[in-house]
Amino acid sequence: MRLLLLTHAFNSLSQRLWVELSEAGHTVSVEFDINDAVTREAVKWFQPEIIIAPFLKRAIPEDVWQNTPCLVVHPGIIGDRGPSALDWAVLNNERRWGVTCLQANAEMDAGDIWAWQEFAMRDVAKRSLYRHEVTEAAADTVRQALERIQSGTYRPRPLDYSDPEVRGRWRPFMKSDDRRIDWKMDTAEVALRKIRSADGHPGVADELFGEAVHLYDAWPEDRLSGSPGAIIARRHGALCRATVDGAVWIGHVRKKDPAGGWGLKLPATLAFEHRISELPEVPDDFASDHHRQTFREIAYREHNHVGYLEFRFYNGAMSVDQCERFQRAFEYARTQPVRVVVLLGGADFWSNGMHLHVIEAAPSPADESWRNINAIDDIAHAIITTDDRVIVAALRGNAGAGGVFLALAADQVVAHEGVILNPHYKNMGNLYGSEYWTYLLPKRAGVECAATLTENRLPISARRAAEIGLIDRVIATSAASFVPAVEALAEGIANSPGYAEIIRGKDEQKKRDELAKPLASYRAAELEHMKLNFYGFDPSYHVARYNFVFRVPHSRTPLHLAAHRRKQS
Ligand code: COA
Repeated sequence: MRLLLLTHAFNSLSQRLWVELSEAGHTVSVEFDINDAVTREAVKWFQPEIIIAPFLKRAIPEDVWQNTPCLVVHPGIIGDRGPSALDWAVLNNERRWGVTCLQANAEMDAGDIWAWQEFAMRDVAKRSLYRHEVTEAAADTVRQALERIQSGTYRPRPLDYSDPEVRGRWRPFMKSDDRRIDWKMDTAEVALRKIRSADGHPGVADELFGEAVHLYDAWPEDRLSGSPGAIIARRHGALCRATVDGAVWIGHVRKKDPAGGWGLKLPATLAFEHRISELPEVPDDFASDHHRQTFREIAYREHNHVGYLEFRFYNGAMSVDQCERFQRAFEYARTQPVRVVVLLGGADFWSNGMHLHVIEAAPSPADESWRNINAIDDIAHAIITTDDRVIVAALRGNAGAGGVFLALAADQVVAHEGVILNPHYKNMGNLYGSEYWTYLLPKRAGVECAATLTENRLPISARRAAEIGLIDRVIATSAASFVPAVEALAEGIANSPGYAEIIRGKDEQKKRDELAKPLASYRAAELEHMKLNFYGFDPSYHVARYNFVFRVPHSRTPLHLAAHRRKQS
């Protein structure tokens, strides 16, 4: 079928649908919802049989949905309607939620229902539910809706509130006051839930150090306490704030900028750098007390000759400080008596490379970019040159840009079947990239395929990545069973009779590679290009980074996504 994805942005859900529908043999094109005339133009040029709207912030023009069936993906159960569906579900502590795929009509989210699916809720942030449960259910319901439409016999279900099965209802846009935290009254559990209902957008409106802020990235704390509302401690990028019954950690905040608009989303201690020196810094040991509830970005544990290193960096972004801490943890892991080290990343992202927000906030973004890319390169180098144990990168969540290539530094790369990879840098203002990608990518995928991946700048599924040799294996299981499956795989390697042979083989291969072309020369050549990106005459990277971190709305759909526009240009 000819399918047009009409979307506010090519976000993770749109990427997943684009990848799956294309792989299923449909002809798919993308148009950003910029204005009605542009949408009409896209429909005229592409002539879609169906329009799919995975992520819209406004209504589809009437003449468009009147003439072409439009399937809207709504992150809510049947009957739920309104623009803050998932926010209410998290805030109200719903235990089951869902996704509904309905046909657009004159009333928001009230059209006939083609498919729906429910899922159990987890106690995590809205952004995490969106990236996992909602995305999985959306992919299933869109697939099912298309099959039903193609069958020609299925009749969609009208929304009928008299049906006792219909639990959902209309809910308004959630306002700041609906989730404002009362630090003198709310328990830690309530404060956490309020912040999670607003994470990644729009954040919870609050005050810190007398300044208006939006709060994000909340973590529980099981030991610290203080006077309710007081900021009682800091650790790495996060601040700890007391509640009536304990405390919570706040990892990221957004302050007002001098012009009165909202500034960058930043690690909380960086945003309040000038105010935190008085606060006690509470250390934490990444390798002990595994069951603690606290702010812990890096955690290491061992079991059956395998070490597991998790790095749960918000949005998968890795600043210089985070890279350095990661590097220390990795050095620790590779000196422990384990035979395999598994790099587990975070639950939502494995890694998205350099921390573009921290770079943007630095006095010299060019210098900070340079420091950041070198810090990531150092990690990649440590992984590549580990010659006495097997390193496995296990991707539970998506990876993008340098984050993908960092994963490829491992000996084995495995990913959950729902993972989407963006193995390219060019979307960030023609960034050349480093992380030894010129060594790692062609070695795995071949020279031709490597060129296609980096030039096309498109997402690929884990399955496709395995087919082209970019990764070694896809693990098809539920999200909850992924880590146990990785544990079984890693223990299999650690305890395999051929383990010594694996180590010998890897060592010999690395020596041959080094003789053919030293690792250092790959890095030096990549960094020459990066120097130009950071310090050269062409400002594209700095402009693209600014647009990205401030989420400047798109003014057109890029041609690599809008297939229908390529023909016209
Ligand atoms: N640095 C800082 N923040 C990053 C980031 C990075 N490298 N990559 C993603 N993020 C943040 C986004 O700003 C966004 O923040 P929000 O919480 O305010 O919404 C959040 O992560 C989610 O990103 P988004 O772009 O909405 O996710 P996606 O799933 O739609 O797209 C990517 C994933 C990887 C394609 C996209 O995030 C991306 O291009 N990231 C930049 C990768 C990059 O160029 N890294 C630098 C070179 S190594």
